[in-house]
Amino acid sequence: MLNKKMQDALNQQIQAELSSSYLYLSMSAYCEAAAFKGFGKWLRIQANEERGHALKLLDYVLSRNGKHELKVIEAPQAEFGTMLQVFEKVLEHEQHVTALVHKLYETAHQEKDFATLTFMQWYVNEQVEEEATAQEIVDKLKMIGDKSSAALYLDKEYGKRAG
Ligand SMILES: [Fe+2]
Ligand SMILES: [Fe+2]
Repeated sequence: MLNKKMQDALNQQIQAELSSSYLYLSMSAYCEAAAFKGFGKWLRIQANEERGHALKLLDYVLSRNGKHELKVIEAPQAEFGTMLQVFEKVLEHEQHVTALVHKLYETAHQEKDFATLTFMQWYVNEQVEEEATAQEIVDKLKMIGDKSSAALYLDKEYGKRAG
């Protein structure tokens, strides 16, 4: 059984993952509308992944006989500027989520909830990957600067993401 503090922290993380999903869905629509269909597709898949992260947490709460508490998801912004600004925002957001994951991990440690500690290990590792991926896209977009042919090439490449 989860204690109340742990349960609240996990429910809060469900909210954070769903907020990520909502933000990336908005970014995806923004890219699509700006004719960057590849980045749009990549972000749509990313939005689905974030929803998956939320569901994995929800299933965990339920498996520990915890009580789910779904919270309000604020509307994300609709405008994001250039593709570089879009992915800088993704990176910044992932860094924010990493801080939340670490906080949750720390709480599990303090509460001596070893099952949650082990469960959260997956999220700690996932965040390393998420930040690295976002950083790589930011680096590439910085490299190409305002060369639109290179931007379109990158858009095509990232549009190959299958899930
Ligand atoms: Fe996530
Ligand atoms: Fe993420």
